[in-house]
Amino acid sequence: MQSIDVLVIGAGAAGLMCGISAASRGRSTLVIDHANKVGKKILMSGGGRCNFTNYYTEPANYLSHNQHFCKSALSRYTQWDFIALVEKHAIPFHEKKLGQLFCDNKAKDIVNMLLAECDEKDAEVRIKCSVESVKKVESGFVVSTNQGKWQCQSLVIATGGLSIPTMGATGFGYDMAKQFGLSLYPTWSALVPFTLNPKMLEEFTGLSGVSADVRVTCNGQAFRENILFTHRGLSGPAILQISSYWQPGDLVEIDLFPDVDLFEQLKQWQMEKPKSHLVNLLAEQLTKNLAERLSELWFAELAHKPMADISHADLLLVANKLQSWQLKPTGTEGYRTAEVTMGGVDTNEISSKTFEAKKVKGLYFIGEVLDVTGHLGGFNFQWAWASGYCAGQYV
Ligand code: FDA
Repeated sequence: MQSIDVLVIGAGAAGLMCGISAASRGRSTLVIDHANKVGKKILMSGGGRCNFTNYYTEPANYLSHNQHFCKSALSRYTQWDFIALVEKHAIPFHEKKLGQLFCDNKAKDIVNMLLAECDEKDAEVRIKCSVESVKKVESGFVVSTNQGKWQCQSLVIATGGLSIPTMGATGFGYDMAKQFGLSLYPTWSALVPFTLNPKMLEEFTGLSGVSADVRVTCNGQAFRENILFTHRGLSGPAILQISSYWQPGDLVEIDLFPDVDLFEQLKQWQMEKPKSHLVNLLAEQLTKNLAERLSELWFAELAHKPMADISHADLLLVANKLQSWQLKPTGTEGYRTAEVTMGGVDTNEISSKTFEAKKVKGLYFIGEVLDVTGHLGGFNFQWAWASGYCAGQYV
């Protein structure tokens, strides 16, 4: 059996950052992962370009049963700290929109940067290493794996959430929490597309790939972004964002003309363009395809009438339908395609300063396994970097 100071389980975003941070302090550190590659989610993130942080990161971008928990780490390791690291490694990046920073080239640049830092700081990384058991002993923990046994003073659980099992996601972190008597919140998939019932799917046949700039609202939370029709339902950033606030049975409301009071706009068009057909005017904002399909579904008898022939009462009906489209998703695509897992290890069990479990000396939880979930836009990686870095300062 070998002895080390720090053993990190999970060589994803949080685990690698924690390894770097701990090893920089001179702690002998090993980061293990059961997958055949490190940082698989980093590699597949942001369409292969990794949206690694966000200029506008703040605690309000995170959901948790304890809204205060994330504040300390986010302020001690900020987006600017991570950007400085990216710049130190001369990785080219750009802001896509809304403060979202992406690599110009490939997400692999970020993984290579983390591995180079591990190498420089002397943090060892082992892949294809599966944990067989974890036991608490007086001086720390004994971790048995298919590659041998280690005794460590500090054990860090950085195994992430349940999304995309084919990429190596497991419930290991939750099992560890249970083994050591820590409470957990139920988990569910978030940042995930909605599925629709067969009738709606049939109504939207042919719209697959069509997008629209909308405002989506659910349970008092709103996002202004694009929606995307797919052959299974609705996706796009606005839908992924709102999915974090949606529970089965909830209605979602979509405003397809988020910049205007559509009733006023329609009355103005009626005066300015009395001969234009309603559907053609709507197509100026929505695509032609979408304007035609929604008109056909919701107000077919008005769609091809000249504006002058439509009553104000009917214009109001049109405006209400397009600005308050209410739909009830049948569900989500689940962990198969979700970007994150909501819920997880109860943060009341964990110190927000050190990330150590309050009840179990030497046991740490970081990253997505905790009940902290970011909005879409680089916030989840920023949480992984921040929690990993901060824990690494104490392990
Ligand atoms: P992460 O999942 O990164 O790492 C956990 C590691 O633990 C994995 O390497 C896994 O193999 C390992 N592991 C699991 N069980 C184990 C076990 N039993 N034994 C050993 N090892 C084990 N976020 C963002 O900010 N910007 C973005 O662009 C994207 N894009 C994106 C796209 C897609 C498709 C997904 C699925 C997710 C994103 N995300 C994202 C979310 C982001 O990837 C996620 O929040 C972080 O990777 C979480 O970091 P962690 O280190 O906590 O877990």
